[in-house]
Amino acid sequence: MHSIILIGYMGAGKTTVGRTLAMRLGRTFYDLDWYIETRYRKPIHQIFSERGEAGFREMEREMLHEAAAFEDVVLSCGGGTPCYFDNIDYMNSVGETIYLKCTPETLSQHLRMGKSIRPLIQGKTPEELEVYIRESLEARAPFYEKAKHIVEVPYLGNKERVAQLVEKIAEQISLELK
Ligand code: S3P
Repeated sequence: MHSIILIGYMGAGKTTVGRTLAMRLGRTFYDLDWYIETRYRKPIHQIFSERGEAGFREMEREMLHEAAAFEDVVLSCGGGTPCYFDNIDYMNSVGETIYLKCTPETLSQHLRMGKSIRPLIQGKTPEELEVYIRESLEARAPFYEKAKHIVEVPYLGNKERVAQLVEKIAEQISLELK
């Protein structure tokens, strides 16, 4: 069975939604950032500081090819994964790609709740974050929109909302939940 691949901007809920979706489908869940961190035994922010963003993108591409080839998985990618090399075309060739589409307002709400260290937005004030999200989302949207499915994501403030979104995804792309 094809892998299900979640893409979208940082803070769109890819990891949270992917984990729940995998559970409801009885599939194994992989998060590409975690996969990279496990394989290289280093946190993403350390990879960025040691190899720069270009070095990280090379590793990310290689790890994408490993992880997306697993059978029966749900794979959540990093926010930039589909936007480099031919990654989005590769993802479309091996799996069911789903773009979790969020407004810039919801993304910044989610990102303010999050605890992970994200090198691209670390140290930004709320105002700088808003500007950065708007600009980079505009640049990335053409890649995200190449996904086979696009799902609108509301503010995911609690578990019920995540569960509802998973139901909506399953309905939209005809997946049978357990
Ligand atoms: C990135 C998003 C991050 C991580 C890295 C770069 C990006 O993943 O891959 O910090 O370029 O948007 P999340 O989207 O899971 O935060």
